[in-house]
Amino acid sequence: MTAPTQTPASAASGVNPASAVAASGTVAAASSSSGASAAAAASAGVPASAPAATVVERPLTHFRTLPVSVKVNGEIVGPTDVPAGLMMIDYLHEYLHLTGSRLGCGQGICHACVVIVDKPDGTSEEVRTCITGANFFNGKTIRTIEGHAKRNEAGEVVELSPIQQKFLEHFSFQCGYCTPGFVNAATVLIERLKRQPIAKDKVEQTITEALNDHICRCTGYVRYYEAVKDVVMTTPGLVKDAA
Ligand code: FES
Ligand code: FES
Repeated sequence: MTAPTQTPASAASGVNPASAVAASGTVAAASSSSGASAAAAASAGVPASAPAATVVERPLTHFRTLPVSVKVNGEIVGPTDVPAGLMMIDYLHEYLHLTGSRLGCGQGICHACVVIVDKPDGTSEEVRTCITGANFFNGKTIRTIEGHAKRNEAGEVVELSPIQQKFLEHFSFQCGYCTPGFVNAATVLIERLKRQPIAKDKVEQTITEALNDHICRCTGYVRYYEAVKDVVMTTPGLVKDAA
């Protein structure tokens, strides 16, 4: 007499038990009817009367929060508890409603999202907010694109910064998406040159190096560079041997 090749469960479900285990990780899952489930459970050594596993409800995401307090454009905000992994660009947009900093690549490549960090030693630097957590800025002083122009008591812009003004005069941008990043980069450069003036023959190379990381999808590079050079050459004290 030929030995049976299928258990009652597999015969009822038409599923090969071995392949079902490989696919689902459980023998019981291979059966679709309750009778078949009982037979499969019995064949696996599980009592047929065993209670079904309790379904545990879990939130999709569990946030650990960290406090963030930052001086932004001269005003201290916070402390505010924010999710530990929240990027600074999202903190600026969603918590402070400062939407001028642009999210471009989101991967640290285009530099559209940079803000200026003012350091205790009086120097300044650009920091990318798409790859830097909001908590990194806790206790720091920053400037965003909203903080460059002078405003009146009603909050209206009354005077652009020299860099902003020259970008307008030189028609440096088209869509303007990259402009906040370029404004911040050029401003950091101008501030550095005020501390450390350069020789005239180093001006173009210095501007190139300062703006080099910033990507403009409208390819407005030349006019950005010309505008920054205009500021560098016409602001007293930035170039040692300026005419
Ligand atoms: S958006 Fe931050 S580097 Fe591109
Ligand atoms: S002006 Fe459009 S990305 Fe630079």
